[in-house]
Amino acid sequence: MTTAAKTEIHQLVREIRLHDYNYHVLDSPTIGDGQYDQLVRKLIALETDFPEYREPNSPTQRVGAKPESGFEEVTHRVPMLSLGNVFDVDEFRQFVARVEDRLGKVDATVLAAEPKLDGLALSIRYEYGELVMAATRGDGQTGENVTQNVRTIRSIPLTLKGDSFPDLLEVRGEVIMKKQEFTAMNKRLQGLSEKTFVNPRNAAAGSLRQLDPKIVATRPLSFFAYGLGEISEPLGNTHSGVMDALKAFAIPVNPGLVKATSDQIERVYSDLLANRDQLPYEIDGMVVKVDDLEMQEMLGFVARAPRFASAWKFPAQEASTRLIAIDMQVGRTGAITPVARLEPVFLGGVTVSNATLHNFDEVARLDVRPGDQVMVRRAGDVIPQIIRVMTERRDRQIDPIELPTECPVCQSPVECNIDEAVVRCSGGLICKAQRLERLKHFVSRRAMDIDGVGERLLETLIGREWVKTPADLYRLSAELLEGLDRMGSKSAQNVVQAITSSKATTFARFLYALGIRDVGEATARNLAQAFNDIDQLIDAPLEELMEVDDVGPVVASHIRAFFEVKCNREVIVDLVTLGVHWSVYESNIDSNCSDLVGQTWVLTGALTSMTREEASDKLRALGAKVVGSVSTQTTVLVAGPGAGGKLDKAETLGVEIIDEAALLELLECR
Ligand code: IVH
Repeated sequence: MTTAAKTEIHQLVREIRLHDYNYHVLDSPTIGDGQYDQLVRKLIALETDFPEYREPNSPTQRVGAKPESGFEEVTHRVPMLSLGNVFDVDEFRQFVARVEDRLGKVDATVLAAEPKLDGLALSIRYEYGELVMAATRGDGQTGENVTQNVRTIRSIPLTLKGDSFPDLLEVRGEVIMKKQEFTAMNKRLQGLSEKTFVNPRNAAAGSLRQLDPKIVATRPLSFFAYGLGEISEPLGNTHSGVMDALKAFAIPVNPGLVKATSDQIERVYSDLLANRDQLPYEIDGMVVKVDDLEMQEMLGFVARAPRFASAWKFPAQEASTRLIAIDMQVGRTGAITPVARLEPVFLGGVTVSNATLHNFDEVARLDVRPGDQVMVRRAGDVIPQIIRVMTERRDRQIDPIELPTECPVCQSPVECNIDEAVVRCSGGLICKAQRLERLKHFVSRRAMDIDGVGERLLETLIGREWVKTPADLYRLSAELLEGLDRMGSKSAQNVVQAITSSKATTFARFLYALGIRDVGEATARNLAQAFNDIDQLIDAPLEELMEVDDVGPVVASHIRAFFEVKCNREVIVDLVTLGVHWSVYESNIDSNCSDLVGQTWVLTGALTSMTREEASDKLRALGAKVVGSVSTQTTVLVAGPGAGGKLDKAETLGVEIIDEAALLELLECR
């Protein structure tokens, strides 16, 4: 048993060392952060149980990897430390208990919580208010002198503001790249046929360690301070006080610092986790620090990490797994998209077995092939993405994926549009895949909202050729449906009832339901507001369509193309003949009243006089944007009984809050 432990320790050390090198030196990790953390934890556990087998150069005994050559080495007079991690609420409570134990305190200790920015650590040295040096962390003791590069980061002052700064001030913080700027930069690099970056962290690290400062100057880097290194005099008694002092010297500090006791911090963590996607930069957790500096000093350090602080990490967002196959999916408008089928991997709280590959350009760019080991990333609600292929781990010759020449479902020839990088099935409604997707869209909640007609039923109806177009749905009878497998007479009646009730709709929903290419909900609403009714829209020339908000020449041509197809016009006539209708309140609003343009509304809790959906439609018809979560952009929150987190947040942010009665009053004027 013990020799087994020795071997395992040795193997883990080698494995972790390789990952450290890939991550810190090559900026090219081959496993996700969560998987890495697990390896380290396993090693720490084994080393604790078998201290005799701990290797002197074990990765647990140091912070990072050796700097890559090219930059001068800098010794940190005050080492740049690492942070201990906690991964769940129990571990967080243990951390707090240890802190309070050591402090011999029973009262709740004041903590400071900050987003854990996902970039790379930087130390900036100011002497007599002038920036004299900037260095990366390196292994914590010795980093790289990147002063020339850091001088190009515009948000970092070269001279401190005011005159009350200490003679010597070393500021520690994180260099990051904001998400939007990262995307824009990658696009630019791609246009220049240069290497793009996998994620903002790698982009920040790669940019900062560029040897040519002129290139660094073109990279959109930002910096946020979160602490101090060497200083000639103290700046305050608390961490939060120190951050305020830095702010006064014009140094950007980590935004979002919250001072609170540990039980409140648990809530801060869940809010941060829930809102991480709204932040302009990527964060991978929250850092919690004891706010009082004297207490920090009493607590001191253990190994290379302070006892007074800990990182509370978010569930991993990236992991490596194997790509089993690339399937072809035919969408509503015939677009054929490659979809990656993966060996299931647990990621950010869910099991992921599919990932999007966007289009065939992306397949070529990634050079992804079946059997490859790939890195998958899941951020927020978005469909998981393959961000990198470990081509170096490809162990046998596999052919690259070729562009399909025919539709995998109906075998019609495909059309390629080079500009869009899209391959499209030319089969139109002949193609059962397109038919199914169009019908799924037609019945979906935000379109005609036909509850009870799901994908399975649609597949059956299409298979039997009972339903070819959306109008056919309104011709179905309960008697006919009763003949289907697992369809009792009650369910058949319910389905027909749901279809019948959907006949009363809004013009905007109807337009959206038609599934015209590029006409999403917002465009459908704009069209519904601009045109009195369907007859006018059907015949509207391009110029007239282009006068509508958000409608440019491409969207206008898609709308025209849709209405020029004879069977599309026939379907619309059929639908109206079969009783689909809408009220026209949307199109004849008194323009004096439609003053919600530019406003953002959120609805929460229950409403009694209408559903939230109906209320949203009405608000939108008046020009408001209705969204799902409260932020500083929110104009008004409508809160009904049962409102929870959104109401709290609106109160904290000082957003206007109204109840249902006030909402009705407002809608009535219109
Ligand atoms: S405090 C004593 N605060 O996370 C160590 N670190 O995993 C001081 N980081 O090396 C670190 N955001 O690069 C601190 N608000 C924050 C942070 C933060 C990101 C990074 C930092 C550190 C690493 C540790």
